[in-house]
Amino acid sequence: MLGPTLAGPTVTLAPIKPEHLEHYVDWFADSLVTRFLNHVQAFTLQQEHEWLDRVSRSETEVAWGIFVEGRHIGGTAVSQIDWRSRRGMTGIFIGDRNWWGRGVATEAMTLRTRYAFEELGLEKLITQVVEGNVASRRALEKVGYATVGVYRHHEFRQNRWWDVWIGELLRDDWLADHASLTP
Ligand SMILES: CC(C)(COP(=O)(O)OP(=O)(O)OC[C@H]1O[C@@H](n2cnc3c(N)ncnc32)[C@H](O)[C@@H]1OP(=O)(O)O)[C@@H](O)C(=O)NCCC(=O)NCCS
Repeated sequence: MLGPTLAGPTVTLAPIKPEHLEHYVDWFADSLVTRFLNHVQAFTLQQEHEWLDRVSRSETEVAWGIFVEGRHIGGTAVSQIDWRSRRGMTGIFIGDRNWWGRGVATEAMTLRTRYAFEELGLEKLITQVVEGNVASRRALEKVGYATVGVYRHHEFRQNRWWDVWIGELLRDDWLADHASLTP
């Protein structure tokens, strides 16, 4: 499903529309953007339309576009949602590299987290970060994700093995830290 509009001070998460898909084609063709992602191949516009169709109908994924100053600059999602155990997997990318290092991911994760716990009623969010992706792990830890462990030699890319950090964030821990934000 497509997530609803969630507005923060700088960042807005909003539903992805077909006219945004050409940005995804460009971003997933940029090896600096995909360096730490599972997407090692580029996608065609047709594949992006098929993805939007799939995600719009999905009952186990909530996806948003990330917008700043009205510009579409990236995407984030809670995916692989297990409604019985109320947990989901989170992911994010800022495709427009002009916006890296300006706090966008941290704010987008905060909006996504609040929605996951307060609207979807999830109990836990889980994430994975490839070793060396300092900015992603730092943003996640600022939002409250704690270390579960490290999968060693978990991904093979660029002709070598990479470890992957696993983080999780429990609903109660997040609510305790953000009680003042809850109306
Ligand atoms: C990783 C990514 C999401 C970070 O987004 P961002 O908007 O640049 O992150 P933020 O600006 O919120 O920064 C988060 C923290 O990381 C730090 N940081 C940002 N870029 C950094 C870098 N290159 N090296 C070290 N630290 C960095 C920031 O200073 C900030 O910490 P601070 O508040 O203590 O100063 C973004 O670079 C991206 O989309 N990369 C490509 C896709 C990707 O890797 N996605 C994540 C997969 S797990």
